[in-house]
Amino acid sequence: MPVRLVELTADDAHRTDGGGWLSPALDVYVSAMNYPRGTQLHRAPLWQDHMTRPGWVAIGAVHQASAERPETLVGIAYGYRGAPDQWWNQQLCAGLRLGGYRREQIDEITRNYFELTELHVHPSMQGTGTGQRLLQRLLRDRSENSVLLSTPEVPDDDNRAWRLYRRLGFTDLLRQFTFTGDPRPFAVLGRRLPVQ
Ligand SMILES: CC(C)(COP(=O)(O)OP(=O)(O)OC[C@H]1O[C@@H](n2cnc3c(N)ncnc32)[C@H](O)[C@@H]1OP(=O)(O)O)[C@@H](O)C(=O)NCCC(=O)NCCS
Repeated sequence: MPVRLVELTADDAHRTDGGGWLSPALDVYVSAMNYPRGTQLHRAPLWQDHMTRPGWVAIGAVHQASAERPETLVGIAYGYRGAPDQWWNQQLCAGLRLGGYRREQIDEITRNYFELTELHVHPSMQGTGTGQRLLQRLLRDRSENSVLLSTPEVPDDDNRAWRLYRRLGFTDLLRQFTFTGDPRPFAVLGRRLPVQ
């Protein structure tokens, strides 16, 4: 059966009738990123906080393996409008300054953007276009000038995430950037909106 995209609301995040999406979405995230089990507990309050941010929107990908089985969440994408009081925005501005961008360039980059915060597809469903569909749907009808994201550096920019971002026209803003408290190198990528 085909994968179906659905808009996820903050009100439904914790529904107790089986329709709550936050817990399965965190499971998808942990499986996709291959993080240790239990990471969900640390991330839940952060994802919850993100839901209160201006312009927050989330899209889920649901799949039904067979007519007898219930639909399950197999992908999640969300983001919100960037703002100066956000940690990621502050890290980005500091990184851009260190990266040699001029004040006017930094203002232009950070003035009106959508932050792609999370994009994950369960490993069992990766590589069939679901991530691309999630991202295109998430970015549909946005009012911001651009979309920005950070993604871990990988050799030769060659994994599914990088291929997807390049295919959709994302270009480099920062490379080998480290966020405070995390030694792993990241790239910050961006592109103007809309995405066709
Ligand atoms: C990154 C991620 C979200 C991409 O989602 P995905 O569904 O696996 O990937 P895509 O939507 O890009 O699928 C494209 C692949 O499906 C194939 N495909 C099949 N039908 C397709 C279609 N109709 N449209 C687009 N691609 C299609 C493409 O050939 C492509 O293969 P390739 O990646 O091997 O070149 C997912 O791989 C993932 O969760 N990865 C781990 C977590 C992660 O890295 N998240 C991002 C952190 S910033």
